[in-house]
Amino acid sequence: MAKTIPASQLRLHPVSVTRQMAAAFPRLKAMAEAKGLRLHHLGAGYPHPEVSDPTTYIAQKNAYFRHLAQKGDPSHSEDALRALLMPLYGYTDTIGPASARQAFATVYGHDFGFSMNPDLLVPTVGATGGISLLCSLYERSGEKIAYLVDAPTYTGFVSRAGLSSDAAFYSVDLDEEGPDPVALRAQIRKARQDGRKVAFYYTVPDGHNPGGISFSDARRQAVMKVMQEEETFVVEDAPYTYISYEKASSRPKPFIAMDPTHAVHLFTASKIGLPGPRVAFLYTEIEMTIDAGQKVPLRTLVVTEASGDTLFCNPEALRSFEAYLHDENLELRKSLWPVAQAKNAIYGENRAIVLGGLDEGLAGASDQFGWTKPGAGFFSVFTFKKRQVRTTPEFVEKLISEYGVVTIPMFGFYPDDARKRDPEAGLNQLRLSFCFSEHIGEGRRDDMREAVQAFTAAVRVECGL
Ligand SMILES: Cc1ncc(COP(=O)(O)O)c(C=O)c1O
Repeated sequence: MAKTIPASQLRLHPVSVTRQMAAAFPRLKAMAEAKGLRLHHLGAGYPHPEVSDPTTYIAQKNAYFRHLAQKGDPSHSEDALRALLMPLYGYTDTIGPASARQAFATVYGHDFGFSMNPDLLVPTVGATGGISLLCSLYERSGEKIAYLVDAPTYTGFVSRAGLSSDAAFYSVDLDEEGPDPVALRAQIRKARQDGRKVAFYYTVPDGHNPGGISFSDARRQAVMKVMQEEETFVVEDAPYTYISYEKASSRPKPFIAMDPTHAVHLFTASKIGLPGPRVAFLYTEIEMTIDAGQKVPLRTLVVTEASGDTLFCNPEALRSFEAYLHDENLELRKSLWPVAQAKNAIYGENRAIVLGGLDEGLAGASDQFGWTKPGAGFFSVFTFKKRQVRTTPEFVEKLISEYGVVTIPMFGFYPDDARKRDPEAGLNQLRLSFCFSEHIGEGRRDDMREAVQAFTAAVRVECGL
């Protein structure tokens, strides 16, 4: 007999808009297919299958492990391989194998122009795991907490940080260069006046998800100044730093390279490598003042939190990523940018097809529609400038069932306080993604072309053009 477990202490949290869409998807897909429509993917934020081949990833790690074994003991390489693999399939401590941290710090520090200390890297279960550790650290204080976020912001952050009933979000509107630094400072002060402990400002400065922009250099500097003067810090979630469409000379610097004592960097291999192995690192040089004025590195607090949470990280996954940081000759790469370039050739082409297709399909209507041109990442935000339609769940469902076009509505990415400021926030916007399609090569190009054509045709009909 089914038992009901008394759970009066538990709270049910609202499901994010992306999850709601995913749940509705099979029904809408069936409706579209019943009408003979093809489905066009402008919604999902997944890596493209053309640049996510696990077989080359696995071959590289096997070759690397054999190479290390051979180098270590050429006459007994099978024994040496066993000895090498044993710890990779055993328990390791919370901060994981030193060689993986060393290789990553060398390559990443080189690529982003700063000196990264490998001893300070903390492996996390994806960037998602890094977010979770930082939130649980603040939740432990038992105080009322404030998180500064963008409007719009990443739902993965709000879903995690919002689990605590002590948390509140103070949001700052984004423009094409980033958040308004004056508003950011005002929100930090307001949170403090409201009696809250300001945890940090969470953002995605490169290829913002879902904002579809990268912060300008000037805006990064202004934001960093606010962090320093207000004695708080920025958590930069960085899945798209390598998925960049900028020339090398104009790539903006991450916050961590500007001032590691006021930034936490969440690197993840999910986009530059593969998401499944969940390889990611948290890095910071922040010092916190805790009880009785004692100074402690934030990194130490995070490691304590991580030991309570994951305790043992996955050494095989970390050392496989170490292999990925080596080239075909099994030499440590100087840079991951050549790997990124191969991926960005695909994403950049998709981006050009989608942005070009919007220009073409909506030619002569620039007063009515706008869209962001992201310098990095997977997303562009499409705006109905005259609020010709309301991008409600019903509207987005209609785009799927009647036109076969999958997009994500933006309103769900606006935190509650942003919706109080403007109840219509995001209700004239859609998030379009250009990262994923079902086919590869010419089929992928056709997928992207047909998707943007179907989208612009639908927009024209819905707006009576
Ligand atoms: C802004 C942002 N943060 C985090 C993630 C998830 O990263 P991970 O796979 O490392 O947990 C994503 C993935 O889409 C993302 O867009």
